[in-house]
Amino acid sequence: MAKYRIAWMSGDGVGNDVMEAARIVLDRMKFDAEYVPCDIGWKFWCTEGNALPDRTVKALKETTCGLFGAITSKPQDKAKEELSPELKGKGLSYFSPIVGLRQLFHLHTNMRPCKSYPGNPLNYRGNKITNPSGEDVPIDQVVFRENTEGMYGGVEFFPLPESVYTALCANPKMKKWKDKGLENVALSTRIMSVQGCTNICKEAFEYAKKTGRKRVTLIEKPNVLRETGGLMTRCFRDVAKGYPDIWSDEVNIDAICMWMFKNPQDYSVLVAENMFGDIVSDLCAGLVGGLGFAPSANLGDNYAVFEPTHGSAPKYAGQYKVNPIAMLLTVKLMFDWLKENEMAKRLESAIARVIADGKVRTYDMGGNASTLDVAKAIADYATA
Ligand code: IPM
Ligand code: MG
Repeated sequence: MAKYRIAWMSGDGVGNDVMEAARIVLDRMKFDAEYVPCDIGWKFWCTEGNALPDRTVKALKETTCGLFGAITSKPQDKAKEELSPELKGKGLSYFSPIVGLRQLFHLHTNMRPCKSYPGNPLNYRGNKITNPSGEDVPIDQVVFRENTEGMYGGVEFFPLPESVYTALCANPKMKKWKDKGLENVALSTRIMSVQGCTNICKEAFEYAKKTGRKRVTLIEKPNVLRETGGLMTRCFRDVAKGYPDIWSDEVNIDAICMWMFKNPQDYSVLVAENMFGDIVSDLCAGLVGGLGFAPSANLGDNYAVFEPTHGSAPKYAGQYKVNPIAMLLTVKLMFDWLKENEMAKRLESAIARVIADGKVRTYDMGGNASTLDVAKAIADYATA
C-alpha cells in the first residue's frame, strides 16, 4: 500500500496542464502515493448544479491531503446562464468550490510564499536592493491569509430583505438605504471572530519563529473598518506579546500596496484577513514573476489542500503553454506539510536551478518551452 493517498483535483482550464506537470515530477521523484481523482469545477456546476459534488467531499475524507489545479469562477448571473437547461430556474446558486472546500474542511490558514529566485527575468526590478557584496537581496515573503472568515463567509443579500434591514436598524446610518428602496440595495458582510483572528496571527508568528524570520506585519484597515479591523488589530497585538524577539508592525491595506512596490525586500511574514490576504498575495506574486511563481497551501489542523494561486486561464487550456512552476512550488509545500523534508529541499533546488539556467522557459519568461518541458527539466535535476 502506498504511504499517502492524495486527492487529485485538476479542476478547470490549465489546472489539467499543470497537474500533469506535477505528476511527471512526483512520479520521477518516486513519491510514494496513490492518487484519487476527484470531480470538481465548472463543468460539474453546469451539469449537476454543484461545482463541489458530495462524492468529492466524501472521497477527500479518505485521503491524506488534496492537490488542486485551478478553478473557473464566474459571477452569479453568468453562472446561472451556463447551467444546463434542466437545472435552470431551480434556484441553484453558484459558490466557488475552492472557497467551499476551505470552509467545509476548516482549512483556516492560507499560506502563500513569494520568493524571487535568482535569474528569473520577471523578478521585480524597481527599487533594487543589494547587500554589501553587491548581490541582489531577494524578495522572500510569506503571506498568511485567514481562509474561512471575513468577506468570504458567503453571507450576502440582494435585494436586502426587510428582516435584515430591520435587524440592522439599531444603527442610524441604515436609514439612507431604506430611502433608496431595499430592492436597490446589496449587502455583503465581513464577519470575523476572536478565534479566527487569533489563530491566523499565531500561525504567522509561529512560522516566523520556526524559520528565524524577524518581522511579522499585519495588513488591515482599522481606521475605517473599526470593528472587524479593530478586532484583528487587538488580536494581533495580543499574540505578538508572546514573541518579544520578533518585530511586529501594522500597515493599512492601501499603504502596503505602495510600500510593497517601493521596498518589497523589507517585508517578511505578512498576516491578513481573507480578502486583504487575497489582494496582497497577488501583489506579492507580481513582484516575484507573477502567478506562474505563486504557490499556496490551505492548511487545517488535520487536512490540507495545496493549490497554485493562479486561476484556470481558459484561453490557454490544454495548450501546455502555462508555467508549471507555481504548481511545482505547491507540490513542494505539500512535501513540507507531509514532513518529506528531503524531497521538499530537492524539489525547490531543482526549480531554482532551472530558473537560474534560463534554458527551459515557458512563454511568460520569454521562452517557448511547454509546461511539460519545464516539468521534465525540473524532474531531471530533482532526480540527478
Ligand atoms: C485565490 C483566488 C480565489 C479566492 C478565487 C478563485 C475564489 O483568487 O485563491 O486567491 O478569491 O480566494
Ligand atoms: Mg486570489
